[in-house]
Amino acid sequence: MPDFITAFAPARVAKLNCGFDCMGLALSYPGDRCSARRITKNEVLIEAISYGVHLSEKDQVPEDPEKNTASIAARAFLDEYTPGFGVSLSLHKELPSGSGLGSSAASAVAAVMAVNGLLEEPLPKPALLEAALHAEAQISGDRHADNIAPCLFGGIGLVRELDPIDYIPLPIPEGLSLAILSPRVTIETKAARTSLPASVSLTQAVKQSAHSAALVAALYSGNEGLLGRSMQDFLVYDARHTQIPDCTAILTAARGAGALASGISGSGPALFALVKEQRSHEVLQAMKDACSHDADGMLCGIHTKGAILL
Ligand code: HSE
Repeated sequence: MPDFITAFAPARVAKLNCGFDCMGLALSYPGDRCSARRITKNEVLIEAISYGVHLSEKDQVPEDPEKNTASIAARAFLDEYTPGFGVSLSLHKELPSGSGLGSSAASAVAAVMAVNGLLEEPLPKPALLEAALHAEAQISGDRHADNIAPCLFGGIGLVRELDPIDYIPLPIPEGLSLAILSPRVTIETKAARTSLPASVSLTQAVKQSAHSAALVAALYSGNEGLLGRSMQDFLVYDARHTQIPDCTAILTAARGAGALASGISGSGPALFALVKEQRSHEVLQAMKDACSHDADGMLCGIHTKGAILL
């Protein structure tokens, strides 16, 4: 039984436009790492937090174990499975918080993976979902698993139900990659969710469910045209795009340059384009050209494994 173990959990693109709060995919890069050291006392400490990206103090994550998503998740895991020890965590963040790429989810998932790795007989991944989801809900103010689930399991997936969690992995079409442009503004999911409509019309609901069903069909059939047509958001785009500089122009430019689809990742500000690998550089350049604000761009693939022990 190890006394010290490190886990990695990848960033994610949540929502996939028509899958608000229920669909997402894991990114091959970047992600967070969390190390857990067993301690005798049943408590959760944060030993260190380091960053692989330069962040101003306001964009750094809390060191208070009551407020940090990694320690909240670790605490929930220890309470759920009572292994009889505590942990001291060291977190290495490659993902800035408020980026729209699942920073809090990656920390929560890396933490529960690491703590689980300290058990004499580690539990299977589905057993880790609830603790990570609990932490994410504390931070984002709501229970939704389109961030936690792809980050934990990898690939593309659909959360059909939360109580209990029913996660359905979906096929990953070959040769697809992502161009991501993140305008340098910070959007906290909790605050962003307060501006969402409290109710939607029946027409919107019908359109969204038709498009998400079509997306599932497109992923199973590998029909790229259908994939592009399906990835539309009728529920939350209107409430969100105004908070992201040049959002519509960037997403339109991506599709104009050959992306199959483009959208806001989670609550933003990161914007994604789903592209055939050979078009990815042109698409990212078109997104940059359409953005008048400071922004960071990257190209990445889909992480098929999700969270792993290192
Ligand atoms: N589905 C969530 C949202 C993802 O769009 O608010 C962010 O946690």
